Amino acid sequence: MSMWGGRFAAPTADIFKRFNDSLPFDYVLAPFEVEASKAWAKALQGAGIVSAEECEALIGGLEQLADELAQTPDLPVRDRAEDIHSWIEAKLQDTLGAVGKKLHTGRSRNDLVATDLKLWLKARLGHIQESLLGCIQGLLKFAQLHQQAVIPGYTHLQRAQPVLVAHWALAYVEMLERDHMRLQACLKHMNQSPLGCGALAGTGLNIDREALAQQLGFDSASENSLDAVSDRDFVVEALALASLSMVHLSRLCEDVVFYCSGEAGFFKLGDAISSGSSLMPQKKNPDVFELVRGKTGRVAGHLQAMLMTLKGLPLAYNKDLQEDKECLFDAMTQWHDALSIITYSLGHIEVDQQAGRDAAELGYSNATDLADYLVRLGVPFRDAHEQSGQLVLQAIDKGCALGQLELAEMQRINPDIQDDVYAVLELEAGLQARGALGGTSRAQVDAALKRAMLQFNAQ
Ligand code: ARG
Repeated sequence: MSMWGGRFAAPTADIFKRFNDSLPFDYVLAPFEVEASKAWAKALQGAGIVSAEECEALIGGLEQLADELAQTPDLPVRDRAEDIHSWIEAKLQDTLGAVGKKLHTGRSRNDLVATDLKLWLKARLGHIQESLLGCIQGLLKFAQLHQQAVIPGYTHLQRAQPVLVAHWALAYVEMLERDHMRLQACLKHMNQSPLGCGALAGTGLNIDREALAQQLGFDSASENSLDAVSDRDFVVEALALASLSMVHLSRLCEDVVFYCSGEAGFFKLGDAISSGSSLMPQKKNPDVFELVRGKTGRVAGHLQAMLMTLKGLPLAYNKDLQEDKECLFDAMTQWHDALSIITYSLGHIEVDQQAGRDAAELGYSNATDLADYLVRLGVPFRDAHEQSGQLVLQAIDKGCALGQLELAEMQRINPDIQDDVYAVLELEAGLQARGALGGTSRAQVDAALKRAMLQFNAQ
């Protein structure tokens, strides 16, 4: 039976019902709706609407339902109800009879759905927080395991300066750490309870909304009923957070796809996380990383969809808001799964130290070190840049590295250059030179890794 048949003379059309019903996707809110309803039953008792026995019966019925749902989470979709709210109410009426009809007193699906969705999201973000920390720990382990390895660092995808593989991994730790801070902020921002705001104007019952909010684990009750029932900022914030975090993972994936390409060959993927080609027998493809990159577009699309849904909505509740669920549910699933698969895959990447080092030696990645050497001789940096560039040009003409130029050739550009220049041009010297805080010197990276391991409890 529907929740609103009284003023209708004719049945709803099947085609409308199929279009309108949200049960096929909002059934996942069931355990949270049960929690909210238990708290509401107590509030109703406090307001003198139900007796102590009736309250007990309602709570008993809800707990029984929670047990059934724990066994069979998709139980609701076996029935045809409009949404999870009507399904639960119908179930209660089946088991409790008349008292089941009292539960919806003074509340609306509008304050209820906003409450359920917040409770769902708080729980889901809790799981995602664990996966996020797991991914950070995975990156830290990867950095530790490959602490010796060097790869070329790029700007414009042109070899720029050598960096440690651990420095590369720690860059993504920074990004995920910011995601973690944003996740915590999001949890805090959304922590007001809409329950007891009624359909839009507030409830007519004498409800202690603060006590109700505390009982459900919120910091406080929301202040304005019109806002509370139509606020989906928390959905947008979670989607924005998921989108940005996916963008971070996507950039990592792009790096990995390139690093394991035939052209770079710094990383090799384990069989467990690679796939082959149906036609080309030699292929081993980085599908995991491409898929995460691809799913990032999907998650960012959900953020756009939600913003577009909200734009131009009048206060307060409008049915458009039902569109908040599928995009939020899917985005959180994709984000969670992406974090898990990346964490797993990091353990299946082999680093080819030789290939990384060889590539880092190429491309005149030590030209800045030569300029810095000239600066130490007293040459103003702009001139040092010019002279180092001229030497790069000479080396390109000769088809050799900077360190393979004769001293006499170098002295033709700057007579002050001495033998000690060759040590400066070594790869290790280039790394060691970047020794200020945040740089890729072995000492800095080692310290950064230790700090992060301590902070994230990784070993
Ligand atoms: N299924 C609805 C949603 O997800 C529940 C709220 C319905 N409220 C209403 N006034 N029709 O938004």
